[in-house]
Amino acid sequence: MKIIIAIDGYSSCGKSTLAREIAAQMHYAFIDTGAMYRAITLYLLRQNVSIKNTDEVKEALKNITLHFESHPETKSSDIFLNGENVSRYIRDLIVADKVSEVAAIKEVRQFAVAQQQEMGKRRGMVMDGRDIGTVVFPDAELKIFMTADPEIRVKRRFQEMYATNPDVTLDEVRHNLELRDYIDSNREEGPLRKAEDARVLDNSDMTREEQLKLALQWIAEVR
Ligand code: C5P
Repeated sequence: MKIIIAIDGYSSCGKSTLAREIAAQMHYAFIDTGAMYRAITLYLLRQNVSIKNTDEVKEALKNITLHFESHPETKSSDIFLNGENVSRYIRDLIVADKVSEVAAIKEVRQFAVAQQQEMGKRRGMVMDGRDIGTVVFPDAELKIFMTADPEIRVKRRFQEMYATNPDVTLDEVRHNLELRDYIDSNREEGPLRKAEDARVLDNSDMTREEQLKLALQWIAEVR
């Protein structure tokens, strides 16, 4: 039976890394929903849309088409905004600084959630985000809620960003993660919450192999 695996949790807990590895093992599709909110934010920034003006944001959403292309051989995927591959731009700090504000807008969430639910119709899907187990797929067969020590998360994200932006500082990354977690947890629409039936995975002291092994064990239990 093909199932849906929903992975939620705080920023930089390694959700996408685990999701990608599970998808590769199971030959499932993988959708990084954070990339969708980031691509929407990139579009709004490029078009100078005022994020505080809901009408302007609603109009802008009509001009946004998103799609993913996955590359199973490298366990990676690209996101396209109106046909342009924007994968490398969406990780910039300018996008990270605004994305949680954009993702808190009701119309933006409705736009993204509808597409995510459509993509999941065929099942056989690993999706990671903040509201997958609570809002997008409340009936997902397996829900994983990931956490990790905040300072470990800061270091992980810093290393990832440093590779493309050597000017970034630990403090900038820490501030961004704290801000996003706060906004994501306290918004009205689809706040970051552990679904009641989610299994908690704290990966502060776990290797990638250990996390994958545990997740595969959980998958075997629910299938
Ligand atoms: O997962 P990632 O850190 O790339 O997500 C970027 C931002 O997108 C999050 O901080 C959050 O504000 C938003 N997001 C969301 N709901 C999701 C996925 C991401 O609100 N399902």
